[in-house]
Amino acid sequence: MSIIDSLAKRRSYYALNKELPVPQDEVIKMIEELTELVPDAFNMKSARVIVALNDKQDALWDAVYEAFGGKVSREKIDGFKAAAGTVLYYIDTDVVKALQEQFQLYAANFPVWANQANGMLQIAIWTALREKNIGANIQHYNPVIDEAVAKLFNIPKNYSLIAQMPFGGIVSEPAPKEKEDISLRVRIEK
Ligand SMILES: Cc1cc2nc3c(=O)[nH]c(=O)nc-3n(C[C@H](O)[C@H](O)[C@H](O)COP(=O)(O)O)c2cc1C
Repeated sequence: MSIIDSLAKRRSYYALNKELPVPQDEVIKMIEELTELVPDAFNMKSARVIVALNDKQDALWDAVYEAFGGKVSREKIDGFKAAAGTVLYYIDTDVVKALQEQFQLYAANFPVWANQANGMLQIAIWTALREKNIGANIQHYNPVIDEAVAKLFNIPKNYSLIAQMPFGGIVSEPAPKEKEDISLRVRIEK
């Protein structure tokens, strides 16, 4: 599959279940491989990934529900809990700080670059999951959930939570997207 085909198939899948079409170990290996392959500024390797599976997946979304004290509906949270797992994306702020100290002229850029690299990792994993017929979506319940998740998974203090990506078997396809006039956003000069 070309990268364009793969990116075209990647969508936000909200109707997910626990039936992965491939063995769990294959998904874990793929996430590890992509974390190694995706680049980062100055090769700083700032991204950290926690993959919650099985009971940990359920405990995660129960903790998210509790953290919001009922302000997010049980039904909505149960939609994410119904997935097979969740990829939690973090930035190791110690790594970013060390680079800021080492290269002071660029100090302001390092947190931005770390976020960009994290986004690159997110799209890589999101797309690669879909290549394996696994659906995923991306959520941002941070920072409300940070403390609860840190306690649940013994997350180091220097990890900053960036995004949560539930993934699982695809229950239904999202509605097709409208084709846009891309000339409004891409201009070719030649
Ligand atoms: C950086 C970023 C943040 C997003 N945050 C959320 C989010 O917090 N909750 C959510 O349901 N979807 C979130 N989305 C999903 C977008 O709404 C979705 O990707 C967009 O509408 C295009 O739809 P598609 O993913 O089906 O192509 C986010 C997407 C990106 C790229």
